[in-house]
Amino acid sequence: MDKIVILDYGSQYNESLLVKLRDNGVYSLLLPKETTKEKIEDLHHVKGIILSGGPGVLENDEAKVFDERILELNIPVLGICYGMEALAKHYGAKIQSIKDREYDKHVVRINTNCPLFLDIPEETVVYMSKNDHVDSLEGVEMIAESASSGLVGFSKGYTFGLLFHPEVAATEFGEKILQNFIKICGCNGHWTIDSFIENKIKGLKKEIGDKKVILGLSGGVDSAVAALLLHRAIGDNLTCLFVETGLHRYNEYNVIIKRFEEHFNIKVHIADEGELFLGRLKGIVDPEEKRRIISNTFVEVFKKATEKLGHFDFLGQGTLYTDIRESKWGGKSKVIKDLPEDIGFKIIEPIRQLTKDEVRSVGRRLGLDESFIKRQPFPFPGLAIRIIGEVTLIKLEVLREANEILSQEIRRAGINDEMYQYFCVLTNIDSVGVEGNNKIYYHTIAIRCVTSLNGINADFYHFNMDLLGRISRRIVNEVAGVNRVVYDITTKPPSTIEYQ
Ligand code: XMP
Repeated sequence: MDKIVILDYGSQYNESLLVKLRDNGVYSLLLPKETTKEKIEDLHHVKGIILSGGPGVLENDEAKVFDERILELNIPVLGICYGMEALAKHYGAKIQSIKDREYDKHVVRINTNCPLFLDIPEETVVYMSKNDHVDSLEGVEMIAESASSGLVGFSKGYTFGLLFHPEVAATEFGEKILQNFIKICGCNGHWTIDSFIENKIKGLKKEIGDKKVILGLSGGVDSAVAALLLHRAIGDNLTCLFVETGLHRYNEYNVIIKRFEEHFNIKVHIADEGELFLGRLKGIVDPEEKRRIISNTFVEVFKKATEKLGHFDFLGQGTLYTDIRESKWGGKSKVIKDLPEDIGFKIIEPIRQLTKDEVRSVGRRLGLDESFIKRQPFPFPGLAIRIIGEVTLIKLEVLREANEILSQEIRRAGINDEMYQYFCVLTNIDSVGVEGNNKIYYHTIAIRCVTSLNGINADFYHFNMDLLGRISRRIVNEVAGVNRVVYDITTKPPSTIEYQ
C-alpha cells in the first residue's frame, strides 16, 4: 500500500498531520527523525516523506538532523517548520531559529504556479511562528513569503519547505496543501479502517504463522482491540491473560470477561493477585516507587501465569502511536507496554501506528460495543497513583465508590463524550467535618475532569455547577469516610492529568 512517512521532530501537531493524511486515504507512519534511507526503502511503496515541525532549535553548527541520503530516493519531500529549516540548512541556508516560538496567524503571498499551491489564492492566511527566519536560498525557488519573515516557503524539484503548518486548522488552505502534496506524491489513497483491518489480519497471519501469542488484557480499549485483531488472524493460538492487581476500576474484571468470553467467545485466563500487589505496596508513598513495585510485580505475575499456560513465541501488546510519543518525550511509563524487555518474547504490536480515535474505529468494526469503546483511558498503575500516600484496601474501596458515583452522574447527564478523561482522586488531605455534635476528620476527594485531543495538552472541563453540586452531595452522603469534595481547575500544562 502506498504510504507517506513522517519523520518526527516532536511537534504537538503531528497527530493531526497523521490523521489528516489518513482522512485523505493515505496510509501514513510516524517514524523517528533518524530513520535511514535503507529503512524507508524496506517499507516499500513509500511515496512521500514529511519532515515534521518540532520544538527544537536548529543552529547552523548542529549535527545532521536527518539522513540526507533520503533525498536521493527521488521521493517528494515536504519539510514543515523545523523540518523546513532542516531542509533549508541542507541546501546551505543560514537559519535563525528560536526556542520560544510564538505561533500566530500570518498573511503570506504564495506562488500559485507551484503544484503544492494548486487552487489556492495568492494571498492566504497561515499559522506559523513569527520569529523563525530563513535567509534567501541560492538554487531554490521561493514559493511563499511574508512581510515580516521574508521567505517562508521554497521548492527545489520535488522537495518543498514551509515555515508554516498546513496541518493546523488555522492555516486557511492547509488541508488543500496536504492534498496537493499527496497528489504530487502520486499516492493511490486507498487507506481506510476496513483496508487497515484486512491488511493487518493478513500481515499478522503471515508474521505469526502457527506460532502462539500471549496478550495481557488491561481492561482498556487498546489491548482489547489488539486482542481482537490477533484473534481474527490466529484464532485459538492467541491466549489472553488478565492480571487482577486489585488496583482496577469498579467491576473491571466482569466487564472484560463478559465482553471476551460471552460476546467474542475468547477465553480469558485470570491471575488473581490483588493481595500480593497490596502487600508489596504497604507503607509505600512515593509515586515512582509505587510504579516500580507494580511494574515488577506485574512482570513476575505475568511470567508465572504464562509459564503455567504453556509455550509462547510472541507477546501481543496494545501499544499505540501516542504511547510511543509519550514515552519518548518523557511521559510516564506505560508499564504493560514495556513488558517485553523483561519478559523475553518477540513483540507483536498490531495497532502501533494508530491514533486513539482510529483504534476506537477498528474496535467498532470488530464488534466492540460503544460503552466499551468509550471507556476512559486508565493508567497502568491503576488506582494506586490516584491515591496520594499509602494504598490500602479501605482507601481503594473509598476511591472506587466515589469514582463510580462520578461516572454514573456523568453518563446520566450524557456529557461523557465531552470529556477526554474523568476520575476521582483520593487526596491525602483529611479535613474537619461535623457528624452530629462531633468534629470528625475525614478524607477529601478531588474530581478531575478534562477535555483534550490526545492527552498531551488538556483543559479542565467547564462543569455545570448544579451537576457538580449533586455529585459532591452524593459522594459525601454515600461514601463512608469522605466529607469534602474539591474540583480541580488546572490545565495541562503546567499540571498533568493524573496527580502522581
Ligand atoms: P498525565 O498525568 O501525564 O497523563 O497528564 C497523560 C495520560 O497518560 C495516562 N497516564 C498513564 N498511563 N501509565 C499509564 O499507562 C502511567 O504511569 C500513566 N500516567 C499517566 C493518564 O491517565 C492520561 O491519560
